[in-house]
Amino acid sequence: MEENKDKTQESEKDFEGNYIEKFQEQKEEEFYPGGIISWKQKKGRVKIYAQHSTLELSIISEKILKFRYANDGYFEDDFSYAIDPEFESGNTHYHFETTEEALIIKTDLLQCAIKKSDATIKILDNNGKILIEDEKGYHWKDERRFGGHVVISTLKSSKTNKYYGLGDKTGSLNLNGTRRELWGTDCYGYGNETDPVYKNIPFFMGLNDGEGYGIFLDNSFRTFFDFGQERKEALSFWAQGGEMRYYFIYGPKLENVVQDYTELTGRSPLPPKWALGYHQSKWSYYPEKTVRELAKNFRDKKIPCDVIHLDIDYMDGYRIFTWNNERFPNPKQMIADLKEDGFKTIVIVDPGIKIDPLYTVFQQGVHHNYFCQRMDGARFKGSVWPGPCHFPDFTNPAARKWWSGLFGGLIQDGVAGVWNDMNEPAVFEEGTFPRDVRHDYDGHPCSHRKGHNVYGMQMARATYEGLEQFSGNNRSFTITRSAYAGIQRFSSVWTGDNLASWEHLKIANIQCQRLSASGVSFAGSDVGGFIGAPDGELYTRWIQMATFHPFFRTHSSGDHGDKEPWQFEEKYLNIVRKFIEMRYEIMPYLYTTYWQYSEYAKPMLRAISLAYQHDKETLDREEEFLLGQHILICPVSAPKVNQRMMYLPEGEWYNFWTDELLSGKREINVETPLEQIPMFIKAGAILTMQDKMQYVDEFVPENIKLHVYKALGETESELYEDDGLSKDFELGISTLHTFTQKPVDNGIVILHTIDTEYDAGYTGFEVCLHGFEDPYKVIVDGNTINIDQTSTFIVGKEFTAIEIVKQ
Ligand code: GLC
Repeated sequence: MEENKDKTQESEKDFEGNYIEKFQEQKEEEFYPGGIISWKQKKGRVKIYAQHSTLELSIISEKILKFRYANDGYFEDDFSYAIDPEFESGNTHYHFETTEEALIIKTDLLQCAIKKSDATIKILDNNGKILIEDEKGYHWKDERRFGGHVVISTLKSSKTNKYYGLGDKTGSLNLNGTRRELWGTDCYGYGNETDPVYKNIPFFMGLNDGEGYGIFLDNSFRTFFDFGQERKEALSFWAQGGEMRYYFIYGPKLENVVQDYTELTGRSPLPPKWALGYHQSKWSYYPEKTVRELAKNFRDKKIPCDVIHLDIDYMDGYRIFTWNNERFPNPKQMIADLKEDGFKTIVIVDPGIKIDPLYTVFQQGVHHNYFCQRMDGARFKGSVWPGPCHFPDFTNPAARKWWSGLFGGLIQDGVAGVWNDMNEPAVFEEGTFPRDVRHDYDGHPCSHRKGHNVYGMQMARATYEGLEQFSGNNRSFTITRSAYAGIQRFSSVWTGDNLASWEHLKIANIQCQRLSASGVSFAGSDVGGFIGAPDGELYTRWIQMATFHPFFRTHSSGDHGDKEPWQFEEKYLNIVRKFIEMRYEIMPYLYTTYWQYSEYAKPMLRAISLAYQHDKETLDREEEFLLGQHILICPVSAPKVNQRMMYLPEGEWYNFWTDELLSGKREINVETPLEQIPMFIKAGAILTMQDKMQYVDEFVPENIKLHVYKALGETESELYEDDGLSKDFELGISTLHTFTQKPVDNGIVILHTIDTEYDAGYTGFEVCLHGFEDPYKVIVDGNTINIDQTSTFIVGKEFTAIEIVKQ
């Protein structure tokens, strides 16, 4: 009795989440489409009229099908913030037929059968293997409080299926057995059980008996995903409003599913190369003297660093787009001096605009009606850092344009990138906006119930567009805490306010891998933890891991002591320095990996379960990951360990530290002295590296290093180059090297082709051989060179073939 009472009270308090629970408990009436009455075949799509619902099935490609359901005889405007406006669905050829039981739609790779008796769906591959199959299928309930429907899809599932994706979720990588919710939340000090968290990416992948597919539920209302938690034989996803609109994406390789999903929701533009360098942040570095000292310390102590972040205290009373003149009397000069020394400055912006009649940004927002309003027209007022604030409606294109235009001053001051925070949106006390707050939603007016999950993304977009507007030919860099599907077109992300604990090092690793599997490769965590004070060992291990995460920044709340590398004992500092240096040494490889993500939509981080899905042993492993094509990392995620077990996937691998060659598809025990992170290089790799630098492009190295890991089969490696800063590469001013390594009779040969329009300035390649034991000779373009049996030699950068053969 007591318990029931509590539950009711709770659901009164938070009807959004618990309403559904109540709904189910009370067995609210469920409605189903019913039998199929008729259908219409159109170009690229089929419309199917069932008794109570209409299904529009679009054939986006031979691998992608889009499903939309209308209950009351009409569809909503098919508007989406997620789909890249540049995505064009090809005019895919499909075959349509009917049998006694079903309507069948066939592409070259898929077959979709829609049962005539109840409109349920089954999708099969070419061999007749079922990929997904409706259980209850599509159904809905009346949404009593707000009108509309709660739209639900229930598919068959099993305990053995694996589910991956959903953005920045914590918990195990495989989502099976869990229920997750998407409702962007400022979750300061979150833990492994916290849900929802900051980002809203309603895309997941299923792996069912070796075959992978993805489902992207493009609906920005609060959504839920039940992966067999309620009933292990069922997978359900639902939204508290709007249409059931989802995309089915076939693999069968999970990697290709991510790629196709990223094509659909857009690719990430190539960032300035410095954004891949090391970032230092704290809440907050001020005044100017502190920032200058910070920069000086990095250079004096020879710890590479590219970026310094200024958190909220640079502003005048937290008024966005202002400077605190006492703390920063001449920001332009300071930023210019930092730039001289190789540092780029990033500043934070929050959506809350201080209610202050003398503040121009406030005045403009009121005058033009850019702020969010409550149902009856009053502007929404919520308190954040500056006290009571109004909040721009970033779903209003005019408000976005205005916001973008406000960056002119900061860019003129020399600011190089912008950090978007508190954009879930977060409000002290209430958590977020009341549900009746109105949004324009680009001409599709709605309440916050629909606008909430896209708010942060639209803020990041407006910021990105502002940088684009003022940065001339320079590339833009932004980072955001909240996001919706497609965020990768505008911004990088970080995983918010984590803790300085070993568990959080692990969580950060899973979050970054998961984000990468959700189309958002450019992700990182607050290294060392935002809250709390890591000891030297934890900080060192976190730095080692984050060296191989795409976004690499130390950030902390500052409440628990300082977290600059030199705050730790010398023995830790020395290792931390080595790893930050290593980040710069692998920059040619890292930058190429980014380019591959931007160009081919290849995820930069790949969990081994994603990369080796056919090997069951990998499926529940969640720490080992690949960065790009060749590097395998397994972080050390516990204190005081000198060795750890990890899984080495199939193939042959070189231990980076010892050059020992190991055969994979087995668990191994690796030595983990504090100076090393388990790191393996795939046999056949040509790992491109360079001299260490204090910041990106500090100097042009004499040579680029080609670390050749002897191949056992034919392999290909790429090296992409451009100026790292401007958009000239869009005009083709870039160079792509392709290296093919092939075993031949008595050794190997490396073939090199160059597609060159950009001269990176270095003179040649320093070739470093790994795994070549027998005495060998080296022939470069037909000429034997004298190598004195060292494993390193120089070749011109235009070489076409190197043979390394037995003497
Ligand atoms: C939020 C951010 C954090 C930032 C702080 C102050 O907690 O997540 O990164 O330092 O606000 O701006």
